[in-house]
Amino acid sequence: MPEPASRLTSVMQSIGVLTSGGDAPGMNAAIRAAARASVGSGIRVFGIRNGFDGLLRGDIHRLQGRSVTGIIQRGGTVLGTSRSASFETPEGRSRAAAQLRTSGIDGLIAIGGEGTIRACRALWEEQGFPAVVVPATIDNDVPGTDFAIGFDTAVHAAVDAMDRIRDTADSSGMVFFVEVMGRERGFVALYAGLSGGADAILIPEEHDDIDHLCRRLTSGHRSGKRSLLVVVAEGDEAGGAFSVAEQVKTQLGERLRLDYRVTILGHVQRGGIPSPSDRVLGTVLGAAAVEGLQQDKTHHLVGEIGADVVFTPLDEVVLMRKELPPELLRLLHTVG
Ligand code: F6P
Repeated sequence: MPEPASRLTSVMQSIGVLTSGGDAPGMNAAIRAAARASVGSGIRVFGIRNGFDGLLRGDIHRLQGRSVTGIIQRGGTVLGTSRSASFETPEGRSRAAAQLRTSGIDGLIAIGGEGTIRACRALWEEQGFPAVVVPATIDNDVPGTDFAIGFDTAVHAAVDAMDRIRDTADSSGMVFFVEVMGRERGFVALYAGLSGGADAILIPEEHDDIDHLCRRLTSGHRSGKRSLLVVVAEGDEAGGAFSVAEQVKTQLGERLRLDYRVTILGHVQRGGIPSPSDRVLGTVLGAAAVEGLQQDKTHHLVGEIGADVVFTPLDEVVLMRKELPPELLRLLHTVG
């Protein structure tokens, strides 16, 4: 069960902060808040460059309150990040724990997604090294928090692109298949598709029937729509936007009397200026992570559920699955 924040119980003298996995807008707000909250509590704070790979290389630098000035508005992560293969192994994690201890670090704040959660859980189980994970991934597929840092900005980027595409599609009469990120999950596709007024949204969580999609597009066209927009999550079982477009084209051919186009939004969704919501979320969770380590949250994820900051043990997080909001899923089939 998630645990509410409790009283301070132990003395933490030195904290390391790193970002790991895919970058997400708002990570810098979390770094800034973690650094400033540490300094404010009299805790030494170190920035670890380039995620777990940098940690293994000892790329560790002392931060002061001023070191994080002017970063809250920047996308990406000023610390750099990596998807570390070495950290996947017990041997790599043992070296990492040794490196942290040699550097005088008592606790780790790791900002990232699912891979970061697994890594920190193993670091605690195998090495007894305390870590709090701050959820940050545009995929939003992390349980224990309503939203992960970066998701809001990514949805904004996707919707902005879709609005532009719609202008062209309407002007010339086209069917657009727009692919958004989400290898495993359809959070970005669902939120961006609903807010961009998509005519159909294909996500990995739902079985997509191409016949059904073709019927929807045909009836939309017959009802007088000048353009049609289909949002496809990157990891959709139908195989991504190019594949879906091919299948629709094969079935409908000239019948729609519209041109077909495919746009892959790709990494455009991951970078860019973080939204105010992501900056606030990063600030709240970065500061709360420092408190968590002081409160013996030695292997926890810190999230925001409703208006509450909530710590959930990583053992539980890895067993949970974050569901798409059912009320939004229902809308998937009724609007458009
Ligand atoms: O960070 C999550 C994510 O953006 C996924 O949506 C996407 O599938 C993946 O990362 C892409 O990763 P990479 O940048 O390593 O190709």
